[in-house]
Amino acid sequence: MKALCWHGKGDIRCDSVPDPRIEDGRDVVIKMTACAICGSDLHLMDGYIPFMEKGDILGHEFMGEVVEVGGDNKRLKVGDRVVVPFTICCGECQQCRRGNWSVCERTNRNAENATKAFGYPTAGLFGYSHLTGAYAGGQAEFVRVPYADVSPIIIPNGMSDEQALFLGDIFPTGWMAAANCEIEPTDIVAIWGCGPVGQFCIKSALMQGAARVIAIDNVPERLALAQQAGAEIINFDDEDATIPDRLKEMTGGHGADKCIDAVGAESHATASLDAIIDKVKAATLLGTDRPHALRAAIMACRPGGIVSVPGVYGGFLDKIPFGAAMNKGLTIRTGQTHVNRYSQELLRRIEEGQIDPSFIITHRAKLEDGPELYETFRDKKDNCIKVVLTA
Ligand SMILES: NC(=O)c1ccc[n+]([C@@H]2O[C@H](COP(=O)([O-])OP(=O)(O)OC[C@H]3O[C@@H](n4cnc5c(N)ncnc54)[C@H](O)[C@@H]3O)[C@@H](O)[C@H]2O)c1
Ligand SMILES: [Zn+2]
Ligand SMILES: [Zn+2]
Repeated sequence: MKALCWHGKGDIRCDSVPDPRIEDGRDVVIKMTACAICGSDLHLMDGYIPFMEKGDILGHEFMGEVVEVGGDNKRLKVGDRVVVPFTICCGECQQCRRGNWSVCERTNRNAENATKAFGYPTAGLFGYSHLTGAYAGGQAEFVRVPYADVSPIIIPNGMSDEQALFLGDIFPTGWMAAANCEIEPTDIVAIWGCGPVGQFCIKSALMQGAARVIAIDNVPERLALAQQAGAEIINFDDEDATIPDRLKEMTGGHGADKCIDAVGAESHATASLDAIIDKVKAATLLGTDRPHALRAAIMACRPGGIVSVPGVYGGFLDKIPFGAAMNKGLTIRTGQTHVNRYSQELLRRIEEGQIDPSFIITHRAKLEDGPELYETFRDKKDNCIKVVLTA
């Protein structure tokens, strides 16, 4: 079959690889009908997440039709249409039972790597390195789905692939980032990053009742989409003031009650000293991440506020103003998304027409065009916001 494979920094290829097989009774194999490229895939492409190996199959946003079912799987049958959440969950360990799905204790086959990096293992993830279980990803014609009696979301007939696909990652990610802010009706929510995750943070914060949402980026078409959703916008390229100062000014000195970092490890900034140092350190392997947006979110948050971090970070972050976080009494919440917590509620919201997640898609293509579209998405060429690939 065809699959998009990682071959080194910036080198993604559409390869011919063996078809997957059922390996355990709880597995299913699906025929992929739609998959997407996520901002998290860019961290792999750009070499920010270690433990990738040549030939690894990428992709963790995917859906398809069940074509083979393991003998112990009583939940799915051949022909079911499913969206597969990016986190692999056993459904039985203490963390799964607590609803902390993305830190399932059993599904990471390389638990020792994750324990070295993080102190404890975290869940297995599709297509996301040997740190998170070395599972083949979903940017492929066929995908083996382990523990498939737990997480896959059965999609009703009548809902299109494009409406359903993002239930597996970026919609619940934006939703959880907003839920982590415990939004109150008077809240002003500031959101760094208007990529796909930022867009779902904006929609979710408004759906959860925020009074105002202020979105920050420097990509005009992404800011325009944020504005269309009801956010006020700041283009950081146009600012002389720092973003925390600008937010103060826009809120009559009050500041943002809740701040969301939907940028993650590869933050850009115009001519700011900390961002230049981050870039040099990351390029020379002296630093692991470029956390400019996280610093700004902590500085901009009003005392007693909440900083929610869906943005992915990989390692040890430099010059984080923890003194500001501590002295202002901030609450910081973060995590890979506990997708299963939100699956049924968000499916219902799509069915009821409260949101159509396909608003985000700008590029549609075939799997074999994937390598080129990775570059288009990374470089924000051709007004690209979200790429969907079909087999
Ligand atoms: N927590 C989770 O489970 C989860 C799930 C999916 C994605 N993510 C992460 O969310 C982040 C965003 O994903 P995405 O798909 O939207 O990626 P993306 O790369 O398309 O979007 C990031 C956006 O941030 C903007 N940006 C860069 N520097 C900025 C700055 N200093 N201030 C404001 N904006 C800035 C970029 O211009 C871009 O539009 C990534 O780190 C990704 O790994 C996390
Ligand atoms: Zn993702
Ligand atoms: Zn578990």
